[in-house]
Amino acid sequence: MNKIIIAIDGHSSCGKSSTAKGAASRLDYTYIDTGAMYRAVTLYFHNHHISLSNDKEIEEALDAIDIEFRKDKLGKSLTVLNGVSVENEIRKLYIANKVSEVSALPQVRHAMVAQQRKMGQKKGVVMDGRDIGSVVFPDAELKIFMTADPVVRAHRRQAELMEKGDLMSFEDILENLKKRDYLDSTRKESPLIQVPDAEIIDTSHMTLEEQIELVCILADEATAHK
Ligand code: DC
Repeated sequence: MNKIIIAIDGHSSCGKSSTAKGAASRLDYTYIDTGAMYRAVTLYFHNHHISLSNDKEIEEALDAIDIEFRKDKLGKSLTVLNGVSVENEIRKLYIANKVSEVSALPQVRHAMVAQQRKMGQKKGVVMDGRDIGSVVFPDAELKIFMTADPVVRAHRRQAELMEKGDLMSFEDILENLKKRDYLDSTRKESPLIQVPDAEIIDTSHMTLEEQIELVCILADEATAHK
């Protein structure tokens, strides 16, 4: 069967990654978490004290960054920065608090978009992010925009962080989510937008299983119409 590109964009913590991962596994597609790439860049900038106002430092840092995805023994996807798994570190709040600023930098976006296009050139990918349907793959055969009520999203994020032993207050998480929504949607470079040809999925009252099922149905339809 022909494979397509499935672009999933939307707000943070509305279930994009879990849905994309689940759908990719069911469809036997490759899952690409572009948010993890921006988080890995943010971690590198943090560790190397890169000044966000110094273009030369930023360019040099981007040249020194290599990001790939590997699977661990249990099949879980790991984000690997220059050969080292940073999967846990990039999910922490100090990265979440900084990532919108880093991902708004044009040089960072250009470097990541070029890599993402390479990763998807053979199709058969589910890519999730903020600008996949609008910038990275504007011709994707299936575009999905996912969203959910901010309070529901903050509860989900809190549960996720708790599982990893990160005890954050609900208020701090909600504030971070709202701030990121605002920054992601209002930035100059590739803001988060709902493209007119995207299917909208509001996950506020949906289970993960229902979300995956819906994406797979939409993928079958898009593949049939290809
Ligand atoms: O999906 P996430 O929460 O892991 O994404 C982290 C940040 O990266 C988010 O605040 C916005 C940014 N991002 C982006 O600008 N473009 C993408 N394609 C993916 C994420």
